[in-house]
Amino acid sequence: MRVEDLDVNEMIGDVGKIICEHDRKKGVLIHAFQKIQQDYGYLPGEVLMTLSKKLSLPLAEIYSVASFYKQFHFSPRGKKVVRVCMGTACHVRGAKNVLNALEDEFGIKQGETTDDLAMTLETVGCVGCCGLAPVATINEDVVGDIGKKKLELLVKAIKEEEK
Ligand code: FES
Repeated sequence: MRVEDLDVNEMIGDVGKIICEHDRKKGVLIHAFQKIQQDYGYLPGEVLMTLSKKLSLPLAEIYSVASFYKQFHFSPRGKKVVRVCMGTACHVRGAKNVLNALEDEFGIKQGETTDDLAMTLETVGCVGCCGLAPVATINEDVVGDIGKKKLELLVKAIKEEEK
C-alpha cells in the first residue's frame, strides 16, 4: 500500500481522534498561556476566565493544563527572579544557608514574591554549574561560589533594583 492511500481516520479510530482533539486543544491553550504570560508576567485569573468563555472550555480544564507546566505562574512575579540551586553539590556547599539568608533579608519564603514585586525567590534543581557551587540564578544570569561577600553584593544589587 502506498503512503498516499493510507486512511488516517481509519488508522487512528475514535480514540485516536479524541487524543488528536485533546492535543490540539492543549496546543492552543499553551500558546495562549505563553502570550498571556508575556503580556502580564503571569496568568491572571480574570484573563483565564475570559479565555475559558472564548474557547468554551471549563475553567477547571484551563487550570489543569496550566498547572501541569512549571513555566506558568498564577500570581505576579518579581522583577528579579532568584533561584537558589538546591542540587546535591550546592546543598553540600551551603545552598540552604544562601536560601535562609535571602529569606531573612527580604522577609519572604521560597516560592514567594516581595510586596513591591522587586524579587521572587525560588529553588531549583541542579543548573549544571556544580563546579561553582553554591549557585543561584538571577533571571538568566548565573552567580556561583556564593559566599558571605557575594551574598551581600547580591542582596545589595536586588535592593538597588527595588528603588
Ligand atoms: S548542584 Fe547546583 S549547579 Fe549542580
